Amino acid sequence: MKKIGVFTSGGDSPGMNACIRAVVRTAVYHAVEVIGVNRGYNGLIEGDFVELKSHSVANILQRGGTILKSARSEEFKTKEGRKKAFSTIKSAGIEGIIAIGGDGTFTGANEFNSEFDIPFIGIPGTIDNDLFGTDNTIGYDTALNTVIDAVDKIRDTASSHNRLFFVEVMGKDAGFIALRSGIATGAEAILVPETKTYINELIHKLEQGRRKSKTSGIVIVAEGDDAGGAFEVAKKVKEKFDYYDTRVVVLGHVQRGGSPSAKDRVLASQLGNAAVEKLLDGEVNKMVGIVNNQLVLTPFEKAIKHNKELNTNLLKLVEVLSI
Ligand code: F6P
Repeated sequence: MKKIGVFTSGGDSPGMNACIRAVVRTAVYHAVEVIGVNRGYNGLIEGDFVELKSHSVANILQRGGTILKSARSEEFKTKEGRKKAFSTIKSAGIEGIIAIGGDGTFTGANEFNSEFDIPFIGIPGTIDNDLFGTDNTIGYDTALNTVIDAVDKIRDTASSHNRLFFVEVMGKDAGFIALRSGIATGAEAILVPETKTYINELIHKLEQGRRKSKTSGIVIVAEGDDAGGAFEVAKKVKEKFDYYDTRVVVLGHVQRGGSPSAKDRVLASQLGNAAVEKLLDGEVNKMVGIVNNQLVLTPFEKAIKHNKELNTNLLKLVEVLSI
């Protein structure tokens, strides 16, 4: 293989730049040319390419976002769009592709690979941590630290005013951010999409806390919780339990930005390197990941489809520690 492409796709995540750097530098080490594809699958369809040399990725390791930009492509979901992408790949002489992204990115890659003969290797880059085949996705640790920093600050004002805060964190289908940030901030309750939320139980818990002299509280709500987002949950609680003055904070896209943590920089560097090595070894249609400190390859179709289980023992831990 003499020329490969690399792109970032879906929601950006801190560490994507560190990962692009690792991909480019590893390819250069093996005397392989690298084409950067701008704007994910849209750039692949339109041929929005840029040559990446070793110096092109200097001084980006510590920067949030992605120098290649990112997008969620509607056109790539169509057969016509994928056909166009195939012909731009071919005419640019690209022989293999590294896709950095999440669930949607690998769903697209899997579909493409079933129709066309271009090898793809995926790297898990999403703050959601919802991919099977890796303990952590690139960006998850940084996002967690961003949430923790924000919730600690909310805790200060919550306790000063005797208020109950409902804090919404990202995760439209997964509760990984909610669960870990909730434990790390000592939240009174954590609501995640993976388990059914019963508002009465939540109220019961808050009442218990109040009886034990709690004067304020934090409820972390994953945006995709079945009871609704933080505004909806707050409204439902308030209807039956009016003890606290309540406030809602939606942390939103602040969770996706910022300089990557040490953990994310190292993970991004390891996985960027491994992806190139595996592509050159002839691996196809797989995501690289690290499980128990071991590099593993997982077929795209297994990495996606919400196969990664949330550690519900941690939810039990909240029950014990938050009373
Ligand atoms: O996929 C990552 C994610 O951060 C989700 O947790 C969130 O629901 C979504 O992206 C938001 O995406 P957008 O940038 O399109 O608003």
